[in-house]
Amino acid sequence: MYGRDLISIADLSPQDIQRVVDTALMMKNGRSSSALRGKTLALLFEKPSLRTRVSFDVAMQQLGGHAVYLSPGEVGLGEREPVADVARVLSRYVDGIATRTFQQETVEELARWADVPVINALSDGEHPCQALADLLTIHEKKGRWRGLVLSFVGDGNNVARSLMLGSALAGIDFRIASPPGYGISTALVDKAKSLAAASGAAVVCVESPQEAVRGADVVYTDVWTSMGQEKEQAERRRAFGGYQVNAELLALASPDAIVMHDLPAHRGEEIADEVIEGSRSVVFDQAENRLHAQKAVLSLILGGEGA
Ligand code: CP
Ligand code: NVA
Repeated sequence: MYGRDLISIADLSPQDIQRVVDTALMMKNGRSSSALRGKTLALLFEKPSLRTRVSFDVAMQQLGGHAVYLSPGEVGLGEREPVADVARVLSRYVDGIATRTFQQETVEELARWADVPVINALSDGEHPCQALADLLTIHEKKGRWRGLVLSFVGDGNNVARSLMLGSALAGIDFRIASPPGYGISTALVDKAKSLAAASGAAVVCVESPQEAVRGADVVYTDVWTSMGQEKEQAERRRAFGGYQVNAELLALASPDAIVMHDLPAHRGEEIADEVIEGSRSVVFDQAENRLHAQKAVLSLILGGEGA
């Protein structure tokens, strides 16, 4: 993975994903590394963040390097200065760029012009670093990927897309329940299905949350209104009315199912308070794993070192 970009999780092979998880576990288990001594990562963010920003910053410090955070509005990506210029200038100062953008095209354009690796730290299209951390969490909690059923309830958004592709690569059966008009595009579902065919997994899209969750090993949800969609909030609340992950829905899952959410959560909307605070919720272990998974990604991409 040395020197490569990470724009979509589908940029990775199943072997790459396994290596990220093995490296993350090694680092989580206390193996210290100074693989990135003297290296600098730019964090170029167009949207707010807690987990992603802090975990990338701490990851760089723990690997012997450091991060420079550029806040939304500070750089004026594509406004104060063309994306191509920002990419070329940053490439002269830093060893890698982790970027959080609105449009998927922005992160792609940055990657096209930058001479250093570009990592997608969430775009409207995908959230690959979240999905890698989630695969790590699922492996830790369930001891395997193959044969598991992951049910995503809600919006076919950036988190859902990366999770679908990541599950397909890892061999997890992925089911998604979304209201009409809020699912994942047929083209991307077809791409996931072809990846799943190679790993022996299945990808299924339905409307009914009950149908999706029945017998699931992992029940996953995310906000109904993502960053940048705030104007659609009222309309989305109506459309997603029956899509809350609550005790009643969870009762249909496997008795030892875990509940996941990438956070931040809107309690009382996509997830009931009793569920996110309940014994099956692993959301804080999941948030912690962002750090370990990103240390692995950074070490492999910027340092060429891993398990
Ligand atoms: N899950 C996640 O990416 O959180 P932040 O938006 O706080 O980074
Ligand atoms: N789908 C959410 C994820 C936040 C981490 C968003 O894009 O706002």
